[in-house]
Amino acid sequence: MSEKEFIPASYTTLKEEGTVAYSSPSNIALVKYWGKRENQIPANPSISFTLAACTTKTSVQYKKKDKKSDEFSFDLLFEGEPKEEFKPKINTFLKRIEAYLPFLKEYHFVINTSNSFPHSSGIASSASGMSALALCFMEMERSFSESISDEDFNRKVSFLSRLGSGSACRSIEGPLVQWGETASIEGSSNLFGIKYPYAVHEVFSNFHDTILLVDKGEKQVSSTVGHELMHGHPFATQRFDQAHSNLEKLKSVLSKGDLKTFISIVESEALTLHAMMMTSNPYFILMKPNTLSIINEIWKFRQESNTHVCFTLDAGANVHVLYPEYEKDIVFPFIKEKLVPFCQNGQYICDRIGLGAKKL
Ligand code: PMV
Repeated sequence: MSEKEFIPASYTTLKEEGTVAYSSPSNIALVKYWGKRENQIPANPSISFTLAACTTKTSVQYKKKDKKSDEFSFDLLFEGEPKEEFKPKINTFLKRIEAYLPFLKEYHFVINTSNSFPHSSGIASSASGMSALALCFMEMERSFSESISDEDFNRKVSFLSRLGSGSACRSIEGPLVQWGETASIEGSSNLFGIKYPYAVHEVFSNFHDTILLVDKGEKQVSSTVGHELMHGHPFATQRFDQAHSNLEKLKSVLSKGDLKTFISIVESEALTLHAMMMTSNPYFILMKPNTLSIINEIWKFRQESNTHVCFTLDAGANVHVLYPEYEKDIVFPFIKEKLVPFCQNGQYICDRIGLGAKKL
């Protein structure tokens, strides 16, 4: 498939006004996306668990302008209050997706958005936020067009979300979404995420992700800069090859429910992501001392308890603690007693694997 296929032929009618609303989740990568080419094309394939609790709710009220103008026109409200500082990011997103949604300059929008997780919790809202907005615009397009299948709808939403934030293209469906061309996954694409197409053992259907908020401050280095630093990175080629190979290995892990190998792949991916940051030029560290203390506690507890608790990391200091439902009565008390003391203000979020976005 090429980008051109996402350009609509024509619309039947452009409605005068209306409102659309969606809730869309965040996701946590098992094999990490780190490094990209022009137009948000990933340098390597990735796969993620869709989350259930960390979501963004967005509504878009639209009203046709008297005359189509050359500018995008929108008001932005975050949790009910105008938020001017978010507008440039939305404007860039609108510019990138305009070719695929040619009605955008015909309307004035009132975009109202809110997150289920605390503001400035260090939880990135770009995946849930960009996908929720893309869903709203696609819902508009659906109401202006002949019918579109759910599969085509999801594919185009994922394609548009990717242009807002790469990892956002993995938030539309669940429980597992794969993005980025790779030989071991049929139908994989650099342009959009696909629902993971192979068998998944039931142990993964109810996986928990307790997110430990270690540092809620602004990151010193943004993901955009981090991706950029993979250009000319001394270990880039090896890293991109490793992601392909980890995805291939995950296939049998996911179908057999092989938690031991799952742990070794997921933790290695998390540490490799941070190793890339530490070995780029300029180098940087996003982990904090408490991130390392938590990792060490998890390793110690896993050995003592014979459970399958493990960790993964995003581009930040927070730790995602992953464990199966059947071990929650042992693992959760451990998290509360031994890990929560390392969280800023004792804050954490109980999340779990989810099924994707919902129309409101
Ligand atoms: O979607 P971005 O550009 O914010 O990149 C996020 C990359 C990681 O979260 C670090 C890894 C991933 O695959 O989600």
